[in-house]
Amino acid sequence: MGNLIKKYEHEVVTDDFDLAGKASSAIKRVLKNLGISPQLVRRVAIISYEAEINIIIHSHGGKIILEIYDDRIRIKAQDRGPGIEDIELALSEGFSTADRKARELGFGAGMGLPNIRKNADGFKIESSSSGTKIEIDIIMD
Ligand SMILES: Nc1ncnc2c1ncn2[C@@H]1O[C@H](COP(=O)(O)OP(=O)(O)OP(=O)(O)O)[C@@H](O)[C@H]1O
Ligand SMILES: [Mg+2]
Repeated sequence: MGNLIKKYEHEVVTDDFDLAGKASSAIKRVLKNLGISPQLVRRVAIISYEAEINIIIHSHGGKIILEIYDDRIRIKAQDRGPGIEDIELALSEGFSTADRKARELGFGAGMGLPNIRKNADGFKIESSSSGTKIEIDIIMD
């Protein structure tokens, strides 16, 4: 585990579709400016975007944290509930509890968490009624 170089936090607000993608755009910009390779930036952007939208659609609100270490990029997404009832089911492709409004906006394919996991080198998730925490590592080579 390398040394922490920088840390950024972004608040993510429930149902705020106008600001959807703001945190992940900011994260993408920071990584680009640091000269991180486009392939890695792209993977982190997919991960942070899907995690951000999940907080907006499915949670009471929370935050996305970007931690840059000398050997990895870590994205943490944490929210204040209501939690995921069945994590294994939530991680399976096509499972979604998105409501009509979210579906009308094009969300709800049930592909966010599977795509996060696919693009991650390390993936941890824990959830209870008081909140969901996801921690994703992307190793820099
Ligand atoms: N932060 C969260 N809090 C509570 N439930 C969540 C959270 N993130 C995901 N879930 C649950 O897991 C399900 C699957 O999430 P996933 O991101 O894979 O799909 P989706 O958000 O429903 O659709 P898509 O991401 O394809 O637009 C969600 O429908 C929801 O039930
Ligand atoms: Mg999703």
